[in-house]
Formats: sequence, structure tokens, C-alpha cells
Amino acid sequence: MQRYITTPIYYVNDRPHIGHCYTTLVADCMARFERLRGAGPVFFLTGTDEHADKVVTSAQANGMTAIQWADRNAAEFAKAFAFINASNDDFIRTTQDRHKTRVIEYVSAMIKSGAIYPGTYEGWYDENQEEYLTETVAKDQDYKSSVTGKPLVRRSEKCYFFKLSAYQSRLEKHFADNPTFVQPDARRNEVLGRLRDGLNDVPISRPVTDDPATQFGIRVPGDEQHRIYVWIDALFNYLSVVDIDDRRPFWPSPGTSALRAEVAAKQRNESVCTHFIAKDILWFHAVIWPAMLMALRDTAAHGTRFDFVGLPTTVYSHAYWVREGRKMSKSLKNFIEIEQLEAYANKYSLDAVRWYLLTQGPLNATDADFSHGKFVEVYNADLANGIGNSTSRVGNMIEKYFGGMLPDAKGKFKYAPEELGFKVEPMPPMKPGDKSAAQIRIDDNSTDWRLIASKTAEDVNKSLDSLSVDEALVAGIEIVREVDLFINSTAPFKLAKTVEQNPAAKNQLAAILYNCAEALRIASVLLSPAMPQKMARVWQSWNCTPPHGASLAELCEFGGKFALKPGQTIAKGEVLFMRADSAEAAPA
Ligand code: MSP
Repeated sequence: MQRYITTPIYYVNDRPHIGHCYTTLVADCMARFERLRGAGPVFFLTGTDEHADKVVTSAQANGMTAIQWADRNAAEFAKAFAFINASNDDFIRTTQDRHKTRVIEYVSAMIKSGAIYPGTYEGWYDENQEEYLTETVAKDQDYKSSVTGKPLVRRSEKCYFFKLSAYQSRLEKHFADNPTFVQPDARRNEVLGRLRDGLNDVPISRPVTDDPATQFGIRVPGDEQHRIYVWIDALFNYLSVVDIDDRRPFWPSPGTSALRAEVAAKQRNESVCTHFIAKDILWFHAVIWPAMLMALRDTAAHGTRFDFVGLPTTVYSHAYWVREGRKMSKSLKNFIEIEQLEAYANKYSLDAVRWYLLTQGPLNATDADFSHGKFVEVYNADLANGIGNSTSRVGNMIEKYFGGMLPDAKGKFKYAPEELGFKVEPMPPMKPGDKSAAQIRIDDNSTDWRLIASKTAEDVNKSLDSLSVDEALVAGIEIVREVDLFINSTAPFKLAKTVEQNPAAKNQLAAILYNCAEALRIASVLLSPAMPQKMARVWQSWNCTPPHGASLAELCEFGGKFALKPGQTIAKGEVLFMRADSAEAAPA
């Protein structure tokens, strides 16, 4: 199975901020998990959307040519994504020839088939968003831009249209056959509601005039007086990048299925393609884009090569980061810019920033507030007092009681309730509906490390199948919590004081510490897609760097092929995460 994961391509005129970084991080974490799951090649794409009129006007204002300006800002995005340690396999810029030539080819085919046709358009236009709004939407917004609040303008022009109206029933069928095509469900229902209102054809070109701002962009093939609307150009990036011989298998082939689309794709050993976006650009991705792809594929009937073109498997549309309950916007000047994320990374480490954004972010339909207080709380609970403290506690005990050599559990991986010093109350699940590791232990009335590990791996797989990256990460932290409970209930530090008089205690101590270390190794694997650098440090100290190509299932097998080996060294290592003082001000 191939796995293709994309982010939106970001407007090159903006400066990178938390929103761009967040979607790219979610996609990055998913890509890292998928590489670990090892079901097949993974391709992760991000990039910049460059053919907007504003690029030309900003370039002019800064005494540069449009492409110079685009080069400079695209480099800022590339730098920002390198800073957050995004593992993207490519970075597309829509001004690159490899993209432009493909777009011309796609649009030519669609003009020939009649899916794109010339006409006249009159309507309400949001100059800032470079977007026409339907009468209903314009009226709902009181004929003002929803973003800037500036009045919409009435525009009329000759242009090319895409025959979106012709795809209404096919889209409806696709939604019905593929219940997970748009996620989360709240977003899917929103799209379905709007779809029921009916679809109009959409203008997909803009006139070229003497104004240099209108001269940037890809010309409509065969008509130099028109350029392709920036959104149509941009959407095609997802296809253009993989529309070359060795990458084409990443694009899903045609064919709908009544099964969950991804299950069907897996069964047919095909590509699963996920577009991660936010709610602002859902309509383009959930309706216009699939219809464009259907239209492109239809051109195969006119002899084109596009019979390979299917639809993306899922469009995943998360909510927004907000700040102190308010939308972040240019006018409020309250964006969390890349510099602020850098300041957090300098103080708390980049992986701590990744962890906070990934686990506390607006992955579902509800917006998430960025708050310094919450950052420190999560940092201390999950990282400093969580994985950081647990690994150092266990490393210290192995050093102190066994000279830094991992002792042997001698097959003792399961503890009956009476072997655990005192009864521990079950932890509430971290998320409603979750079955936490502690819950598994309590159900079984014992602590069975192999079962905890295999159940956790199963849960992580399920979370990933439903694209719940945050839930998958929490599973790793739950193992850490389970280790802490286990240490508290078996009290190895007390046991250690009795080993001189009672040799059996040494074996018990050995087993307890082996189990703790092995459980933490598995936790570190599960946490690594969010915290690749910090977990690599644990692996270095504990000599357990996963070999390239080892799969998540194998790595999560407690005492399995990649388990810690009795007798191997476990170095104490340095402190992974220093505790943070909640009274400290936010780094700026
Ligand atoms: N260029 C278009 C996308 C074309 S994709 C074929 C565009 N660019 S954008 O720069 O405005 O980026 C929008 C995306 O940035 C959102 O969909 C989301 O991924 C991310 N975010 C921007 N602000 C955000 C928040 N406040 N919170 C979370 N993500 C947000 O639209």
C-alpha cells in the first residue's frame, strides 16, 4: 500500500505562523507514524501557493520582482518547516515548471472535453481572499469580507467556467459510498448540507490586463488574455507532484467502494491519500477538487492519459488555533508567529513544542486556545514528570542496583493483584471513550505487560486508521503512566534495601526493572513521531535505536524481536526535560 499525505500549499505572501506549522506538523506526525507502520512507501508533500495577485503588489511595494519576492518568502516557509523538523519528501512551489506544465496539460484536456468552457461571470468578489462568493454567502456576510470586513465588490468579466454543476450527483454518490471521505463528521455534514443547496458552475480564470498584478500566473492554454484562477492552479499541486512515472502509484486509482475507502484501498494494495487542511478551505477540497478530478479522468474518453486519476481517500479538515478565545488575524496582529515558536523551542525544546501542538491542537471540529499556562501544564505532566522522569528514574535504578546492566525478568512479565503492593485506583481514560492502559490492567485484575503493549499497539493502529494522531500519541503517554503506577505499587526502591537478607528479592527487583525499561522502550517508539529528537536520545542511552525498516508492530512487541536484551547497558542519560516553573512568563 502506498501512503500519500499532503498539507495545503500556503500563500507565499504570508509569514509562517502557528496555523501553517500546525497542519504541517499533523501531516508530519502522520507520515512518521506511517513510515513506522511500514505498510509501504510514504510520500509527504508540503509547499507554497505563489500565483496570487498580492504577490505582485507586495513585491512591487518591496522593490522586487514577483518571483524574487516569491523566492524569498518560499524560503521562509521551507526554513520554518525545517525548524519544526518536518520530514516532507518534497516541497512544491506553484511557480516551478514541473507544476506549470502539468496544469496546462490538465486544463487543456478539460477544455477539449468541455468540462471547462468560456462564458461571462458577474458576482460578488472578496478582493482580499481573491474569491467569488455566491449570492447566499455574500448576503449572509452582509456583503462584507468574512476575513477583513471590507465590502465585497461587484465584478463582471469574461471567463472560463468549470462545469461543477454536472458533478452534483456523482459527488453525492461518492459521499454516500465513502462515509470517511471528509473528516471529521461535523465537517462532512456541513459539506453535505451545502451540497444539497445545489452546485453552480465556477469561474476558473481571471482576465489578463495591463496591470502587472494580473500578468502573474499560468495562462489559460490557447487564450493568452486569461490566466488560471489561483485556486485551480493550487489544487492541482497534489496531482502534479506525483504525476511522474516513479511517483504515479501514490495517486489513488479510480473506483468507488461501499467499504471504507481506506480499507478497500489496502485490500487492493493501492494508495491511501490524505489531504490535511483546516476548515477555511474545506469547500475547495471537499467539492471542487474531487469534481475537477472526476472531470480530468473523464477526459480519458477523449483519448487522454488520465484514466489513472482517482480521488483522494480523505480530506481531513481540522479546526483553528485561536488565542485567548479570539481568532488570530492580521488586523488583530495576534498571530503566534514562527519567532514565538522558536522562543518556546529554545526554552523547552522543539520536541516539547511539537508535543504541545500535536496533542492539544484543534484536530477535531473545535478550536483550540494557545495558552502559555496550558503549555507549561502539559509540558510538566507529560514530559518533565512523564516520559522524562520515568526514563531517568528507571535508568537510575538500573545503574544503582545493577551497575547499569539491564537485569533479566526471566519470563516474569505478568503481576497478579496480590503481587502489587497496594490496590491502585484505575486512572480515568484520557479521552472519553478511550480504554486506557490502566483500564486494561484493572479489567484483567493484574498487570500483564505483554497484553498492555499489544493492546496499546492495536489501539494506536485504530487511532491512526481514523487519522486521530493526537489519540495515537496519548497511548504512548498512557504506558508511561502505567509504568509510574507499577513502580509506586511494586516499590523497587524498598525492595532494593532487602536484597542482602533476601536473595529472592534480587530476582523480583530484576524483573520489575526489566519490565519498566521494556515498557518505556515501547512508549518511546510510540512517542517518537511527535518527539523524534528526544526519543532518539533515549534510544542512544539505552542502546535501542530501532533499525531502519522495523515495523511498529514488531517494535511494540513486549519482549519481542527488538526488545531490550538482559545484560545490555542502560546509561542514565541526561535529563530529557527540565521541570518548568508555571509562574515563569511566556518566552518571547
Ligand atoms: N493557498 C491556500 C491553500 C491552497 S491548497 C491547494 C491557502 N493558504 S493559507 O496560507 O491561507 O493556508 C491556509 C491553511 O493554513 C489552513 O487550511 C490551515 O491548514 C492553516 N491555518 C491557517 N490558520 C490557521 C489557524 N489559525 N489554525 C490552524 N490552522 C490554520 O489557504
